[in-house]
Amino acid sequence: MHIAVIGSCNVDITVEASRRPHAGETIIGNKLLVSPGGKGANQAVAAARLGAKVYMVGCVGDDAYGQMMIESLHENRVDTTYVITKKGVSTGTAHITLAEGDNSIIVLKGANDLVGIEEIDRAWSIISTAEIVLLQYEIPMDTIAYVIKKCKEQEIKVLLNPAPFTETPREWMQSVAYITPNEHEAKFLFEGQTRDEILAMYPDKMIMTIGAEGVAYNQQGNHTVIIPGIKVPVVDTTGAGDTFNGAFAVSITEGLPIKEAIAFANAAAAYSVQKIGAQGGMPLREELEDMLLCKK
Ligand code: RIB
Repeated sequence: MHIAVIGSCNVDITVEASRRPHAGETIIGNKLLVSPGGKGANQAVAAARLGAKVYMVGCVGDDAYGQMMIESLHENRVDTTYVITKKGVSTGTAHITLAEGDNSIIVLKGANDLVGIEEIDRAWSIISTAEIVLLQYEIPMDTIAYVIKKCKEQEIKVLLNPAPFTETPREWMQSVAYITPNEHEAKFLFEGQTRDEILAMYPDKMIMTIGAEGVAYNQQGNHTVIIPGIKVPVVDTTGAGDTFNGAFAVSITEGLPIKEAIAFANAAAAYSVQKIGAQGGMPLREELEDMLLCKK
């Protein structure tokens, strides 16, 4: 049993400061962190730390950051056979400001923009045998369309995390097994509709993260269920959504019902925000199980 993550590998360049600078202003920051990130790699690492066999499908550049990403995936026991190093391009980077209790991020896609049909076809033997395939929006949309179409034809379960926000064809939402927007992304996707109305269109399929409130979904077309978030001291929320997605995929493949899978993934996300860096706080299986035991 394995999980395939098709997505981005970014090096995150995080500056922590007491506040954000205004336009045209220079301020002094407190701390610099250069660490592995990217929604795809984050979700792969989150799932692997929780014990899943994970294959990453993506691209890095032939630079020091590309090497750093591959090494960090290895260290986390993610299989990188299908992470291709592209000559003459830069590895994706994310430029993150951490201030006033939240992050703001600018992504330069670099090699992530070269994840194309050829890379998918090359990895098809592991994608087509995956228990679940995870996708996000930091690689070309044409590639995502191709994967969703092929997976639908071959009845392969897909979890689509529509982040960062990009218009999403309704047809994709029908085709995938799970779609996991945050509330902000869901509001853009379904302008003018309430949370309950949006969730009711995709019962047991749309899993909406609603920040500190927790996670909402519609149970069997009946009503909205909210699984509350776990309150912890927050250091950095970067990658919390990715930790949630990776952990949710693990628990679903292990056969947990949706409600329990969400509770498990919520706990993983809560664990992760207590350290700086997208992957810095992601829990190992034992760590998460200890946390869940203490909560009981
Ligand atoms: O979801 C968090 C991730 O978004 C960061 O690691 C950064 O790389 C951006 O892609």
